[in-house]
Amino acid sequence: MTIAPLCNGTSDDITPAIRSTYWDGIDLVAAAPFLFGAEFALPARQMNEPGSRFWDVLNGGLEPVRNLYDVIVIDTPPALSYVTINGLWAADGIVVPVPPSGLDFASSAQFWSLLADLGGNLDKQEQAGVRKVFDFLHVLLSRVDQADAASPAVRQWIQATYGEFVLPVEIPKTSVTSNKSAEFATVYDVQKYDGSAKTYKRAVDAYDRFVDLIEESVVEAWRTRRAAS
Ligand SMILES: Nc1ncnc2c1ncn2[C@@H]1O[C@H](COP(=O)(O)OP(=O)(O)OP(=O)(O)O)[C@@H](O)[C@H]1O
Ligand SMILES: [Mg+2]
Repeated sequence: MTIAPLCNGTSDDITPAIRSTYWDGIDLVAAAPFLFGAEFALPARQMNEPGSRFWDVLNGGLEPVRNLYDVIVIDTPPALSYVTINGLWAADGIVVPVPPSGLDFASSAQFWSLLADLGGNLDKQEQAGVRKVFDFLHVLLSRVDQADAASPAVRQWIQATYGEFVLPVEIPKTSVTSNKSAEFATVYDVQKYDGSAKTYKRAVDAYDRFVDLIEESVVEAWRTRRAAS
């Protein structure tokens, strides 16, 4: 019930891996530690199967179900692995959350430069001038700690580097998120919050604003595509 069969080539359709959830209208495809095997299966197939395209496996597997969903969210680990490359290639937009710490900022800068190299290479591999184009790229300041004296400086570097790509919202570092994630839940799973109502509202307002901004980007992409077709 993961994308493992897509990666090892025993299936080309993600449908059997889809599970419904207790959230109305939200289905899920899980990941699992054994998916790490895909990091060997994908390059092995590239070597052994002439004409295979290791970066297009998830994209191809999603094709039969794309029309069933308004939005498909692909959550990747923070590494440019073979599986992550599949996630990027299948995606129409990218959101990179960056906490305002020096190390996180440095790795985000490396991510974009690796992605640019990789994109150039994949574009060359694709025949008939197929170019990967993203509808949107966003940087999201996340886990922002008001009490951390270093974060205003790093936040300025992030603003100066990414400019208009930085979303006009910040996700604060908050006990609402850490408490809920300790229960394998999210801020949206709260019936009645036990802590301060003010803390809860501040957290949810930030996540809501983020969701609104992403929805605007998605709707904008739909409009542009409809106008072009
Ligand atoms: N806004 C926040 N405030 C407080 N704690 C947070 C916040 N966001 C994340 N955390 C904590 O950090 C942990 C990791 O968060 P999350 O899973 O969102 O990060 P990630 O970068 O996606 O990690 P991974 O690399 O494992 O996918 C969570 O368990 C949570 O407790
Ligand atoms: Mg994660």
